[in-house]
Amino acid sequence: MSTAGIHDLELATTHHVLDMADLAAARGVDPNKYLVGIGQSRMSVPAPDEDVVTMAATAASRLLERHGTEDLRALLVATETGVDQSKAVATFVHGMLGLPSSVRSVELKQACYGGTAALQMALGIVAREPSARVLVISTDVARYALGTPGEPTQGAAAVAMLVTAEPALLAIEPVSGLATIDVDDFWRPNDSTTAVVDGALSMGAYQNSLTAAWDDFAARGGAPIEQIDRFVHHQPFTKMARKAHMTLARHTGVRLSGAQMESGLAYNRELGNSYTASLYVALASLLDAEDDLAGKRVGLFSYGSGSVGEFFTGIVGEDYLAVRRPEADRAVIEDRVPVGVEEYMALHRRVLSSEEDAETPRVTRAPFRFAGIQGRARRYEATG
Ligand code: HMG
Repeated sequence: MSTAGIHDLELATTHHVLDMADLAAARGVDPNKYLVGIGQSRMSVPAPDEDVVTMAATAASRLLERHGTEDLRALLVATETGVDQSKAVATFVHGMLGLPSSVRSVELKQACYGGTAALQMALGIVAREPSARVLVISTDVARYALGTPGEPTQGAAAVAMLVTAEPALLAIEPVSGLATIDVDDFWRPNDSTTAVVDGALSMGAYQNSLTAAWDDFAARGGAPIEQIDRFVHHQPFTKMARKAHMTLARHTGVRLSGAQMESGLAYNRELGNSYTASLYVALASLLDAEDDLAGKRVGLFSYGSGSVGEFFTGIVGEDYLAVRRPEADRAVIEDRVPVGVEEYMALHRRVLSSEEDAETPRVTRAPFRFAGIQGRARRYEATG
């Protein structure tokens, strides 16, 4: 049986952070609606010289500092905030990291599910060529129109993961439960910089996807639910994961404890929705928070609107405590610079046209920045 999986991972987010209590005050909403009802404390806000490419390159560069590029055969970047209709985010990142030309580079998309599609593709590559290593990056900026119900569920992050045949963090088990259901619950038209969403429909679609994916998982011989020790569910906002957990308990008729998913909520509560990255932010949160997970089974539910869901499991590595980096992950979250609501709204409204050359102001302290548009092409540079 293949034991391939996630060997190591690294988080990145934006320069700025907005406090949900400040947003609630500006919108005339009881702060507890956001803090308790939705379950979000803060959200990441990109500076003008940050985007999904800079977050992806930042996370990946830190990962490759530890592991090098030897035997790296693919760079798979999942995003639904792509910066170009043709050139892959992966290809920009490949150039910024100076990767060998023998690394294939591809962008994958299916809303928030894209990261899991990339992970499964990576596992396939490693199964065929066990000496190969694959860099999987999920990177997104969640954007809804100002003043809409979706606004408090914005956020941004990237997670870079090294997938290998002998993983230290999480060995992915072979059984997956899948659910593809065509539904218009959330989407972003090509001419829009913000998502369109039917909030109530999207929450129902997420839960239908979970139960359908679970049924497929069970029918294919996946682990019985009593043998799954911890759960991480996709987190567009942390309350959604609580709802998912209750749905799974109701659907299976098995009593599940809230404690089985609690420690996976901490980081998303701070970062906000990061679409493709959200599930893997939750995994990092879980692995960083608990010290006795070695050999334990984690159930992961990945949901991407539109919709594709996948339920799968992994076994935490015996040496995960030596590989996880809780201080570094917490520093990524704590080093953000607060912005007020006015500044956040100005940043939100700022959209560059590709028609005109433009330089972006130097703001980010990350190792890479978006320098602006030149000759209709996006330009990136190292900041160091
Ligand atoms: P809303 O309609 O403004 O909020 O938007 P609400 O009135 O439903 O209230 C939200 C919760 O706050 C409720 O809790 C209220 O009771 C509670 P619930 O009953 O659901 O448990 N509440 C309070 N609690 C404490 N004190 C108070 C208080 N007031 C109210 N004073 C909605 C909510 C999530 C719909 C909105 O934010 C939205 O549209 N978000 C975007 C869509 C979304 O995230 N959908 C999730 C499922 S789809 C998905 O996960 C995919 C996605 O990540 C995209 C992708 O795949 O690419 C989004």
